[in-house]
Amino acid sequence: DHGAAAGPSLAGRHALVTAGPTHEPIDPVRYLANRSSGRQGYAIAAALAARGARVTLVSGPVDLPPPPGIDVRRVETATQMLAACRAALPCDIAVCTAAVADWHVANPTDRKMKKAPGATAPVLTLAPNPDILAHLAAAGPARPALVVGFAAETHDLERYAAAKRVAKGCDWIVANDVRPETGIMGGAENEIVLISADGSERWPRLTKEAVAQRLAQRIAEYFSPDRS
Ligand code: CTP
Ligand code: CA
Repeated sequence: DHGAAAGPSLAGRHALVTAGPTHEPIDPVRYLANRSSGRQGYAIAAALAARGARVTLVSGPVDLPPPPGIDVRRVETATQMLAACRAALPCDIAVCTAAVADWHVANPTDRKMKKAPGATAPVLTLAPNPDILAHLAAAGPARPALVVGFAAETHDLERYAAAKRVAKGCDWIVANDVRPETGIMGGAENEIVLISADGSERWPRLTKEAVAQRLAQRIAEYFSPDRS
């Protein structure tokens, strides 16, 4: 729960974690974003560090203090997040928890958009953002040995998450049940199904910190199979 974790170690390993939302500018004072506290990603970064990994945390704008002993690279947009992730390679482990905006505004203005009496409302044109998880999973010789994605779904959790694992080329997907009736969204707990090529494993409802510790333990076991 605190300090160094019991069980297999990640000493000598470099882990890259993405966390938080991205902010995609509309004009100098406005942006598009996903809802994300960053809390699950920060907890995972801390749990990997507690197992001895060197951790680079690429973080979108969040209201959290930098976890001690972790190299935090702050970014705003998805494009910046991808560049910071590429700059952090090579790594052994990538865990993509960030709620990356799927689109950016194609033509952000460098002056604040102003209302004019009688003028029609502006229409935003969007363009797709890079998929950071898919890029890391397809990084050729620089590909991390273990690439882990997240998927939050409101229905058909395991089916959609398993499809995302294949589509993005990652090794594991941490599937997160965000049906409104679970009360998970925006809360302190998560309900997880861990999906790999070997199948799926449903975890009990856990705090985000406990999810992080369990995931870090699974990752450490992956890198020391004979000690698991
Ligand atoms: N992800 C990413 N870069 C993006 C979009 C998603 O790295 N541009 C990562 C997330 O960090 C997460 C995983 O991909 O680990 C799944 O994100 P999600 O939004 O659930 O998947 P999408 O492919 O964007 O599909 P959709 O939003 O349409 O469900
Ligand atoms: Ca998305």
